[in-house]
Amino acid sequence: METLALYPGSFDPITYGHLDILERATELFDKVIITIAINSKKDTVFSGDEREALIAECLEDKEWAERVEIQQFTGLLVDFAKEKDAQTLVRGVRQVSDFEYEFRMALTNRRLAPDVDTVFLMPNEQLTFISASLVKEIAYWDGDLSSFVPQHVAEALHDKYKDQKELQ
Ligand code: PNS
Repeated sequence: METLALYPGSFDPITYGHLDILERATELFDKVIITIAINSKKDTVFSGDEREALIAECLEDKEWAERVEIQQFTGLLVDFAKEKDAQTLVRGVRQVSDFEYEFRMALTNRRLAPDVDTVFLMPNEQLTFISASLVKEIAYWDGDLSSFVPQHVAEALHDKYKDQKELQ
C-alpha cells in the first residue's frame, strides 16, 4: 500500500527549513501532500495561490518533487486528512520551544481523529533558527535573505514589502 503523509503549514512563505523537512518526508513516505492552510482569521503576506506558486517553483529542480503534491485547505486539518485518506501528519520541530505548541496540536488532532498521527522531523541543524516570521522581518527591512529562502521567494518578499511601503 502506498504511504501518504500531509505536511501542513502556513508556508507564508516557504523557507529552506520547510524544504528540508519536505525532502526528509519524501524519504519516509511514498507521497507527501504539502498542505497550505488558508485561514481567513490569520493575516498572511501572500495569498494561498501566491504561496502555492512559490512552493511549486521551489520544486521545479528537485528530483524528489515527483512524490510531492501541493494543495490548499480551509477548515480543520484532520478533516482534510480524512478527505485525502492520510493517516500521518508531518511537522518540523526546530527547537525545544517549538515542542509545547506542536505537542498540544498533535494531541488535539489525535483527539479529533484517533487514527491520524503526527510525526516530528528535525531539520538540518544549520536551518533550525529559520522561521517564516523572522524571514518577513528581514525582508521588511530589506535585509539579505539568501541563506533563508530561495531567490524567487526573496524577490517576491521584497516586491511585496516595496509595494506595501509605497502605499504607506
Ligand atoms: O505553519 P504554521 O502556521 O505553524 O501551521 C499551523 C497549522 C496550519 C498546521 C495549524 O494552524 C492548522 O492545522 N490549522 C488548521 C485548523 C486546525 O485544524 N486547527 C486545529 C489544530 S490543533
